[in-house]
Amino acid sequence: MSSSDLSFRIVVLASGGGTNLQAILDRLHGHDGVEVVGVGSDRPGAFALERARKAGIETATFPQEDFDDRESRDTAMADWIDSTGADLVVLAGYMQLVSPDFVNRFRNRILNIHPALLPSFPGLDAIGQALEHGVRVTGVTVHFVDEGTDTGPVILQRAVEIPPGVDRRQLEEAIHAVEHEIYPEAIGMVARGRVRIAADNPRRVIVE
Ligand code: GAR
Repeated sequence: MSSSDLSFRIVVLASGGGTNLQAILDRLHGHDGVEVVGVGSDRPGAFALERARKAGIETATFPQEDFDDRESRDTAMADWIDSTGADLVVLAGYMQLVSPDFVNRFRNRILNIHPALLPSFPGLDAIGQALEHGVRVTGVTVHFVDEGTDTGPVILQRAVEIPPGVDRRQLEEAIHAVEHEIYPEAIGMVARGRVRIAADNPRRVIVE
């Protein structure tokens, strides 16, 4: 298939400011058949939703308080994602754990970006964890989402050095700059069918 024949639909889930969403919109959306067809959030006030509206993209919100439990929230969210015809679900600063049923429904079709070199510093505040630990190198990981917290197969990683005396804001800026490079890159590779899980090892991702 040539790139002009490609039709690849993405839904992005975001809880916060949405700078990664913006990088995806700027670098991928509308290019070579890749289209962001929806942006969902657990937080109706998330600035990411503003960015989506400005780009003319459908939005939907799924605040936990509107649902009895996480499973019913994720079922509603999954039904909405299916209604958009999405090929891929992209978590971009989506700060909720998704339920096992959700992972199963979109198996190997959910990506996440994490601000550390996994398996180091999973979970919340990875940048603070790295600073607290005193490591000299941290970075960014793009991975498939599985049932664990930041445990899925790694697609792409890039290192970021932590120079002596760097403050948190500087490190955050350096990490975000790398995120905005490698997330569109990784999503583009998935869209072009270049990424698959190795048949002999479900942890290992092969990029062709
Ligand atoms: C990003 O740094 C992303 O790596 C992180 O949230 C930030 C969202 O920023 N995600 C996690 O920590 C997930 N465990 P953004 O809203 O500006 O894209």
